[in-house]
Amino acid sequence: MSFKIKINDKNYNLDINPDTPLLWVLRDHLNLTGTKFGCGVGQCGACTVLLEDEAVRACQTPISMVGDKKITTIETKTDKTVQKLQKFWVQEDVVQCGYCQSGQIMNAASLVKTNSKPNDEEIIKAMDGNICRCGTYNKIKTAIKAATAEV
Ligand code: FES
Ligand code: FES
Repeated sequence: MSFKIKINDKNYNLDINPDTPLLWVLRDHLNLTGTKFGCGVGQCGACTVLLEDEAVRACQTPISMVGDKKITTIETKTDKTVQKLQKFWVQEDVVQCGYCQSGQIMNAASLVKTNSKPNDEEIIKAMDGNICRCGTYNKIKTAIKAATAEV
């Protein structure tokens, strides 16, 4: 089946099984490997991308569900929120092994797009489903707060 999808402001035409998870479309078909495969069952958040402004698990999103909604991944060159978060992720030295971090940033981007000044509790609640085996949670919270404090 053929699909037209928009990823990071670029249009793609794909001939693919409609049940194919978006994660495999990104990684295997389009070589956008910034989005990571962790658990594959919607439990870790490593594969988080934006569908419009909503954070979704790419491993649980069949390509047939994307429709004409725009997809944003960590590779975006145009999404100002993602870029700002990346800047503060570096400034606060958040990353350890790094494996979970693109999913963390995309989930944080979804939060900040709907709540420009989240407090600690709101950040902890919003980021709850994104697992970091290196335990960078406090630095993630600091980076989000620093990014949202900048006007
Ligand atoms: S790989 Fe998708 S939630 Fe873990
Ligand atoms: S930085 Fe290693 S899993 Fe999060």
